[in-house]
Amino acid sequence: MPQLTRRRFLAASAASVFALSSSAISAPAVFADRPKDKLRIGLVGCGGRGSFLTTFFPNIPNAEIVALCDPDSVRLADLCKKLPNAKNCGADMRTVFDDHDVDAVIIATCNHWHVLAAIWAMQAGKDVYLEKPICLNFWEGEQLVNAAKKYGKIVQIGTQMRTDPKHHPEAKAFLHEKKELGEIKSVCVGRFFARNGIGKRSTPLTPPTTVDYNQWLGPSPDVPIYRNNLQYDWHWSWNTGNGEVGNWGAHLLDDCRNDVFGDAIGAPKRVLAGGARIGYDDAGETPNEFFAYFDTGAIPVVFRISNLPDKADPKSAGACAGPSSGYVVYCEGGRYEKHWGGAVAFDAEGKKIREFEATSEHDGPGPHLRNFVDAVLNADASRLTAPLKVGHDTSTWYNGANTAYRLGEPYSKKAVLELAGNDATLAAAIGELERHLTAQGLKMNADTFRASRFLEYDGTSGIKGDYAEAAEKLLTIDYRAPFVVPTIE
Ligand SMILES: NC(=O)c1ccc[n+]([C@@H]2O[C@H](COP(=O)([O-])OP(=O)(O)OC[C@H]3O[C@@H](n4cnc5c(N)ncnc54)[C@H](O)[C@@H]3O)[C@@H](O)[C@H]2O)c1
Repeated sequence: MPQLTRRRFLAASAASVFALSSSAISAPAVFADRPKDKLRIGLVGCGGRGSFLTTFFPNIPNAEIVALCDPDSVRLADLCKKLPNAKNCGADMRTVFDDHDVDAVIIATCNHWHVLAAIWAMQAGKDVYLEKPICLNFWEGEQLVNAAKKYGKIVQIGTQMRTDPKHHPEAKAFLHEKKELGEIKSVCVGRFFARNGIGKRSTPLTPPTTVDYNQWLGPSPDVPIYRNNLQYDWHWSWNTGNGEVGNWGAHLLDDCRNDVFGDAIGAPKRVLAGGARIGYDDAGETPNEFFAYFDTGAIPVVFRISNLPDKADPKSAGACAGPSSGYVVYCEGGRYEKHWGGAVAFDAEGKKIREFEATSEHDGPGPHLRNFVDAVLNADASRLTAPLKVGHDTSTWYNGANTAYRLGEPYSKKAVLELAGNDATLAAAIGELERHLTAQGLKMNADTFRASRFLEYDGTSGIKGDYAEAAEKLLTIDYRAPFVVPTIE
C-alpha cells in the first residue's frame, strides 16, 4: 500500500475527477501530516443500511469503522455495542466531521440529509461514501457536484452494482460491441415489490424521546408527520424521501444508464410521468404505482414501479413481462433481460440463447466499499466504480421523473400515449399496469391517476418548456435553519 504524504495526497486529488479550485488547496487533507495505510471511517447514520455496511469491514483489512453517529440513541447504542472500538459521537454528525482521527465518512442517513452531510464532510476534509439517492432535488445535486469540485474530495455513491467485475463488461460486449441481438429499440426498467401502507394517524406523530428530532429533521421543514413510524417510512414523504422512484430507481436507472448507454447519456432530454398512491389510504405521498417515459434523444426508456402485490399472477409481476427488478432491452433480434443476480438473453423466437451472472448482487456492498477504500488510500478517484459524476447523472433521471409526476394532471391514456408518439414499449407497460390494477379491483383513470406532459431539462435546475415556471417550486426546498444547504460556487 503506497504511503501518502500531504503533498502527494493533494496532488493526486487534484488530478482526480475534478480539477482542484484554489479554495480547495486550503482545505485540510485527509491524511494531514501522517502516513497512512489504514483508512479510518466514521459512520453517519446507524439505521438498517449503515449497520449492514459495518458488517463488511472485518473483511476489509485496510479500513475500520472508528466513529458512529445517529440521533436515534437506541440505534446508536446498539451499534456501539457491536463495535466497541468505535467512538460514540452522539447525535450531531459534526462531531464526526471535526474528529481528526476520522479520515473518511459513510453517509447512510435518511435521504433529506445526504447533500448537507456530504458537503459538511467535504468542508471538513473528509472523503465520502454517500448512499443513494444522492439528493432530493436538482438544485441540491448541483451543490454536491460543485462541493466535490471545490474541495477536491473523493465521493463514491452507494450504487454497489457498479462494482461488478464481470457483468457490465459482458453486457456491454454482448449488446454493443458484438451487437448479438442487433440494434437496440427500447428499454423498460421495472421494480416490482409489494409494500404495505404506512398508516394514517389522526394526530401528528410525536417522535420517540430517544431520538434527537432536531438533528434527525435537519434541513427539512418541520411539518407534522401522520404516518405511524418515524424511521424508514420517511422514504414515502417528499419532505424526507424520493419515493420508490428515487429509492430503487437510483439503482435500476443507474444500471440501465451504465449497460445500455455506457454512461454516454447524462440527463435525458425530457420525461413524462404518471402514477398514483393507490390501494390503501395512508399518510404516504409518493406514488406506489408509477410509469415514466424518458426521451433520451436516442433509445427511449420506460420505467415502471408497482408496490402493490400482483394479484393476477404473483410470479409474472415483471417489468414489461420481464424480470421483477431490472430492465429489459428490446432489440431487433430478441431481448436481453437483466434481473437481480444476472441476465438472460432470448432470440427473436423467444429461445434462451445466453445467461449472465451479476456477482455484485450476491456479494452485496463489500467489494464496493473496498473500491472506495482503495481509491481513497491511493488518492486516486479514477479508481472509483461509482463516482459522483455517474451518481449525479442518474439523479437527473429519478429527480426528473419525480418532478414530472408531481406536476401531473388528471390522467388520460390517450394524451400520454400521443405525447410519447404512441411508443409501443410505453403502451405495453401501461397495459401491464392496467392488468395489475384491475386484478386488485382498482382503476387507472383521471380520478385515480395523474400524469404529466413532458418536463424538458438538461440535468441542471434550469427547466425548459411547458413546466419551466411550475417546476420552480420543486427544484429545491426551504431549508430549516441552521441546517441550510449552502450555494457552492
Ligand atoms: N445501496 C443500497 O443498496 C441501499 C440499501 C438500503 C438503503 N440504502 C440507503 O441508505 C440510507 C439509509 O437507509 P436505511 O434503510 O438505513 O434507513 P433507516 O431509516 O433504517 O436509517 C436511517 C438512519 O439515519 C439516521 N439519521 C437521521 N438523521 C441523522 C443525522 N443527522 N445524523 C446521523 N444519522 C441520522 C436515522 O436516525 C436512522 O437511524 C437511505 O438513503 C437509503 O436509500 C441504500
